[in-house]
Amino acid sequence: MTELKEGCKDLNRPENQAATSGSRKQKLKPATLLAPVPVVLVSCCGLPGGERAKPNLITVAWTGTICSDPPMVAISIRPSRYSHQQIRETGEFVVNLVDHSLLRAADFCGVRSGKDMDKFAACNLNTEPIPGLLYAQAVAESPLQLACKVRQTISLGSHDCFMGEVVAVQAADNLMDQQGRLCLEKADLLAYLHGDYHRLGERVGFFGFSVASQKVLNRRLMPAKFEKKLDKPQEKNIRHTARKNVKEKAGRKRRSRGIDRMNGQSD
Ligand SMILES: Cc1cc2nc3c(=O)[nH]c(=O)nc-3n(C[C@H](O)[C@H](O)[C@H](O)COP(=O)(O)O)c2cc1C
Repeated sequence: MTELKEGCKDLNRPENQAATSGSRKQKLKPATLLAPVPVVLVSCCGLPGGERAKPNLITVAWTGTICSDPPMVAISIRPSRYSHQQIRETGEFVVNLVDHSLLRAADFCGVRSGKDMDKFAACNLNTEPIPGLLYAQAVAESPLQLACKVRQTISLGSHDCFMGEVVAVQAADNLMDQQGRLCLEKADLLAYLHGDYHRLGERVGFFGFSVASQKVLNRRLMPAKFEKKLDKPQEKNIRHTARKNVKEKAGRKRRSRGIDRMNGQSD
């Protein structure tokens, strides 16, 4: 019998089984059960003068970030989709993040084809230009839009994966704070979980919180309390210096570890 390391529970002992009952597993057939995933509205348009030269929308849940530098995202689309042909023609698409106000439109654009209708008009949505693209336009009502140029396409089976470089990003004014930082948590974004749409819940941590100092935890997890506690002038100076130190330290770490944590983003 192998010896247990100090501090490890012997999972064969009955007194330790209750805590591990959640670890008994059912075997399911292999499936795309990664969850939660984002649900986005991808906008695209065929080439001018061509058969498919009209703005269109497709709802996509098979999407994700695939590279930090250059910034890249991927979307997987079945070749039978009208939008697939449009993206193939122009090599362009826009990933429009979906907030709660776009829920109905996102569902609708996922069950109707641009072959048969104008989904922008049907959903009362508007196009708006986005830098870096010639043909595809963004959804004006979306809180954050990523303009993408297709760099590679891989046929995987049921779906083709379009890997797009993000060439421009537009964010709604009300998502930016006074320091010009993006506050995506204000966007009321949706997630897709096994066939259902969900609003996001509460924030329960931040990048690196498990190893952060108490000072950083206080500042980032309880900002209101922190502000209240430090209201005397000399204490405000301490706070300013602490923030400066934390910022400098973070900058050094970023540079040395090649991590881009701009606005809390990690890679
Ligand atoms: C929540 C949701 C997620 C979807 N995700 C994808 C996806 O990742 N890839 C895909 O090809 N189709 C996906 N679909 C289906 C397409 O959005 C749908 O077939 C749409 O009508 C295609 O429009 P089009 O023919 O105008 O391109 C999804 C639909 C829904 C409702």
